[in-house]
Amino acid sequence: MKKVVVLPGDDAAPEAMEPAVAVLRALELDIDFVQFPPGEQWIKGETVSRVRAAIDASDSTLFDATSGKTQGIGYLRWGKGTYANVRPVRWQPGYRSPLKQPEGIDFVIVRENLEDLYLGVEAPLSALAPAHLMSHSTGKPLDTADERAQIAVKVISEKNTRRAARFACELAMRRKATGGKGKVTCSSKYNMLRHTDGLFRRVVEETVAGYPELKYEQYIVDDFARRIVQTPHDLDVVVLPNLYGDILSDAAAGLIGGLGLAPSGCFGDDYAYFEAVHGSAPDIRGMGIINPTATLMSAEMMLSYLGFSSAAERLRGAIAQVYAEGKTLTPDQGGRASSKEFCSAVIDRL
Ligand code: NAI
Ligand code: MG
Repeated sequence: MKKVVVLPGDDAAPEAMEPAVAVLRALELDIDFVQFPPGEQWIKGETVSRVRAAIDASDSTLFDATSGKTQGIGYLRWGKGTYANVRPVRWQPGYRSPLKQPEGIDFVIVRENLEDLYLGVEAPLSALAPAHLMSHSTGKPLDTADERAQIAVKVISEKNTRRAARFACELAMRRKATGGKGKVTCSSKYNMLRHTDGLFRRVVEETVAGYPELKYEQYIVDDFARRIVQTPHDLDVVVLPNLYGDILSDAAAGLIGGLGLAPSGCFGDDYAYFEAVHGSAPDIRGMGIINPTATLMSAEMMLSYLGFSSAAERLRGAIAQVYAEGKTLTPDQGGRASSKEFCSAVIDRL
């Protein structure tokens, strides 16, 4: 029996999670779901400690998205050390892609999940005065006189880069074994940020060099943004620092048809949790039309992680069938079905 914590999140997110969990229950697996209420219904303080205890006692967590009311995501990332955020981007028939030829788009973004600017260290610029730093761009000492100016700290460490890169290589090897391209693509702004993004690039390059079966390529991130749009079919496994990975994975979701179709999993050495790429979609809150596909496919990744491979396969097949038929899709995919109707259609095809 596996134990899975369910955090439905805020705004429209619970409207995706509730019918998605009904789909998971329909699979009749040996999973005990420990379900928390939507963020709006939380009892302040009390739930935060309960959620941490539940996460600690669980095999995995299925998380939707928060606007800040649901706590726990910080614990799931930093508390559990989930350093590799894996975000598959795969088109399938029925997805409303804006591209003329979306067939064959099938790549995975591996985003470093714990550092970069997302450590959330910000301060007034004047805090740097005692350090007497030089600006590489102006060639002069950093001017710290502006009292209102703020800084954000970007940390790139060898340790976190290397383990994200290793994860990406192992994933590329597994994909290669089932017909994948066997390629790792790295991108960052290594031309400008020579010490931070430069370290990221060097460590990824070194790591991939340990896998002679894999091809390697690297691009400066602005050019890479263009490549994602223009030549997405060339990609296999892409490894990115946290911020670029966050931004470019939403762009990549747009390629195949939107955020409703973008799942993810966050993997550490001893724990993994799964969440849709999208946020809490406050603009469609209460309408019952949020697309649950991203949540369902995140759940599918979770089932594989927990060892329920054939159930994951069944779920994947049922979702693919609903899209191929195209009769019960949510409005973001050009249909008129509600989130619940979509999930019922998936259950019917399991
Ligand atoms: P968002 O991803 O919530 O929404 C962007 C747009 O995509 C909206 O028009 C929304 O309706 C649409 N959308 C998103 N998911 C959809 C789905 N499954 N089906 C159909 N349409 C969908 O991003 P936004 O608006 O920038 O952020 C809203 C809130 O979410 C903010 O408070 C933000 O901080 C939070 N957020 C939380 C994340 C998390 O918990 N992991 C990740 C990203 C944002
Ligand atoms: Mg994001």
